[in-house]
Amino acid sequence: LRTQVAIVGAGPAGLLLSHLLHQQGVESVVLERRSRQYVEQRVRAGLLEHGSVQVLRDAGLAGRLDRQALHHDGLELRVDGQRHRLNVTRLAGCSTYVYGQQELVKDLIAAREEAGGQIWFEVDDVVPELSHDGPSTVRCTLDGQPTEISCDFVAGCDGFHGVTRPSIPEGHLTTYDRTYPSAWLGVLAAAPPASEELVYAVHERGFALASMRSPEVSRLYLQVEEGDSVDNWPDDRIWKELHARLSVTGEAELTEGPILEKSVVALRSFVAEPMQHGPLFLAGDAAHIVPPTAAKGLNLAVEDVTVLSEAFHAWYSDGDRALLDGYSDRRLPSIWEAEEFSDWMAGLLHRPPEGDRYGARLQRARLDAVVNSPASGRQFAERYVGLARQYAG
Ligand code: FAD
Ligand code: DHB
Repeated sequence: LRTQVAIVGAGPAGLLLSHLLHQQGVESVVLERRSRQYVEQRVRAGLLEHGSVQVLRDAGLAGRLDRQALHHDGLELRVDGQRHRLNVTRLAGCSTYVYGQQELVKDLIAAREEAGGQIWFEVDDVVPELSHDGPSTVRCTLDGQPTEISCDFVAGCDGFHGVTRPSIPEGHLTTYDRTYPSAWLGVLAAAPPASEELVYAVHERGFALASMRSPEVSRLYLQVEEGDSVDNWPDDRIWKELHARLSVTGEAELTEGPILEKSVVALRSFVAEPMQHGPLFLAGDAAHIVPPTAAKGLNLAVEDVTVLSEAFHAWYSDGDRALLDGYSDRRLPSIWEAEEFSDWMAGLLHRPPEGDRYGARLQRARLDAVVNSPASGRQFAERYVGLARQYAG
């Protein structure tokens, strides 16, 4: 088999890259370890920045999104039962959308299918063999047959636990990471959202986030201990904790409903530099991850592959390698802006470790600034909607 770009991973990064390349007349093959059903059902992100939605619209991918996504002009910071609304659109000039990542993945797969794109699912033995002076090879089993895919480039879109980043020889990558003492328990519930906008609740029992997927479905998160397990969280304990952390004095309680899915998400920050090695280009979670506090992961993946597809286009249309060579340098300042904001948000929202009384007072000072200072509020809004990344680097 021969293609121009072999893409490993059919998450948002790999699928969108394949679509954008197709629009530019560049061929690709997508190889995904899991089944189609698995990737279409996997519950993950939900918040899209205005810029990501614009990319999807420009690429002709926003038909269903524009009908079903929920557009939000603001958010609520709830601190110990007190509401503080931030009008993000007024502060930053644009805002955010809620649309489930698995819905986006369904739309992307449908678009590739319609265009006759090649996506192979359940390919669990991908081995990239990078060549610096000729075609590279990706070995795997397709339809039961051992197959060699010859390609000009490999796009590593296979998430944090993929095979492409580890295929870079030792000594060529520098990695930076931070782990956190908390994790998030994520819950999808068939219950109408209590609020029309997202509620980020800071509480002495720990952080809680009330998001949604539709007017009928809530997406809720609770800060839990690192290493905690869903086995410790029967449904009634989840609701009790959500009520406690999200309650507002004198107002109606959250509406309960059947819990459809629950899982624990570890919190971690990670960046690999550079995001490329010879013919291999990393994009999305394969190159960097952030704690979910600021909802940046999916948006960074969209931005990475937008830049990468422009670079491939320049190479294939004009033989100009400058954009490919400069891919990592162009992306890293934005990545680090999102890393810093996500880490800062983790400090703003999470209950500090037991006994850190000083940390608790610092957190209060930070919250006061965001809520009371117009300058701090505006900076927060610009970073939340992703606009601040255009000033990075
Ligand atoms: P992935 O979505 O991880 O896709 C990688 C794909 O590669 C997967 O399909 C995987 O099966 C496949 N793969 C892995 N290894 C191999 C292999 N060896 N061979 C072939 N295929 C392989 N981000 C936001 O922007 N907003 C949010 O609101 C938000 N909330 C989140 C909530 C949760 C609970 C979680 C877990 C994450 C959240 N994120 C959020 C982060 C976001 O989901 C990720 O950043 C996003 O999925 C990155 O996309 P990706 O395509 O780079 O990676
Ligand atoms: C969602 C997740 C986040 O991490 C966040 O900050 C906002 C929304 C969500 O899944 O809806």
